[in-house]
Amino acid sequence: MKIAVIGTGYVGLVTGTCFAESGNQVTCIDIDEHKVQKLKAGEIPIFEPGLEEMVKRNTKARRLLFTTSYDETIPDAKCIFIAVGTPQKEDGSANLDSIWKVAESLAPLLAEDSIVIIKSTVPVGTNRKLAELLQKLTGRIVDVASNPEFLKEGAAIDDFSKPDRVVVGVSRPEIADTLHELYKPFLRTEHPFLSMELESAEMTKYVANCMLATKISFINEMANLCERVGADINQVRRGIGHDQRIGFSFLFPGVGYGGSCFPKDVSALISVAKSHQMEPSILNAVDQVNTAQKRVLFEKVNHYFKGDLQGKTFAIWGLAFKPKTDDIREAPALVLIDQLLQAGAQLKVHDPVAMNNVKDIYGDQLAYFDHHYDTLQGADALVIVTEWNEFRHADFDYILHKLSNPIIFDGRNLYEPDKMKQKGFDYIGIGLSS
Ligand code: UGA
Repeated sequence: MKIAVIGTGYVGLVTGTCFAESGNQVTCIDIDEHKVQKLKAGEIPIFEPGLEEMVKRNTKARRLLFTTSYDETIPDAKCIFIAVGTPQKEDGSANLDSIWKVAESLAPLLAEDSIVIIKSTVPVGTNRKLAELLQKLTGRIVDVASNPEFLKEGAAIDDFSKPDRVVVGVSRPEIADTLHELYKPFLRTEHPFLSMELESAEMTKYVANCMLATKISFINEMANLCERVGADINQVRRGIGHDQRIGFSFLFPGVGYGGSCFPKDVSALISVAKSHQMEPSILNAVDQVNTAQKRVLFEKVNHYFKGDLQGKTFAIWGLAFKPKTDDIREAPALVLIDQLLQAGAQLKVHDPVAMNNVKDIYGDQLAYFDHHYDTLQGADALVIVTEWNEFRHADFDYILHKLSNPIIFDGRNLYEPDKMKQKGFDYIGIGLSS
């Protein structure tokens, strides 16, 4: 099938590449000439395991092309995926300017039987508005579909190739048949293709992300309570997780959720609810708890050193909002760094891939180290923010030897508290009994 994907950001690039991998003829369009040139040369602008090789393989096989030209691509395309950004506006709602601009560029070029599919996360009602706009611009009914994505950064290729489910919102059933065909190579019996109304598909995306964000804020609040009552959230997690209605996944306490999706989507759904005269109490709380949770590590450090952080040095491991990505958008590490710098501390930082992005913000305010152990020399404490795998099996004797004080603040509960105490550390995690 001939496919066009508009927008070569995270979602567009993964979508286009995976459709090419399953044998389709895919052209990715982006207005950024420089980016397109780089992509043509096999250079990808983001860090995503496995993506670069897949882009190169499919570009070489000429199943995957990159261009800035709508004119050369759209008239031949059966399915046109829109995957442009929908950033958050100041009032929390989603900015849809890029979607409408794309629609205007597409309209005069669309083939009679083409389908325009929105992959970007858009508020309920956007697909209907797109259908109306395209009808106005072309003078005929254009098929439109909503096809939200459920990709996790760092695992996007796997998530696309083995989706738990594919959700498609359509205005008439025949559109779903074409999309079902396209997704067949990725589906399995227990991982279905779900066709529904446009509005339900749009809402599904927000409800999924907000449910996941709710789980995180809930477990974080319970972790904070565990600390106060002398319980251990790790034990409690085990205690509740065996109840199959609750389960174990996505209930790890930490330093709050970050990234480009959860914070933005929770705010956007709050904004949708308010615009329908509804005060979404749970979503408001999820957002508030998360904002507070991003400050928890600083509060623990500040409390431990009795509010005197002036001139103290801290080693920080992990800056990305989660492992396997260089993405630092809304990363809890940035909140911690801001607070520690403001309190007069000096920071020695390491992240396996996100360091350049952090350098762009903080420049020489921080000291950057290519190896995590090199941050430790003379530091007053180690603070772990992101649970990169390479931090999991640490050489504790070496850490003890290098730190000025044997103190670890662990925002991800990577280590066994009892073992750490035996080794001689003051080990301060999230939700642990002291
Ligand atoms: C999230 C969703 O998981 C995807 O399904 C969705 O497609 C994507 O948003 C999107 O809307 O595009 P992502 O933002 O890449 O994906 O990251 P997650 O792996 O979901 O993690 C989000 C945040 O939650 C991270 O900061 C992570 O540290 C935190 N988290 C996650 C916890 O604090 N505890 C957990 O148990 C799990």
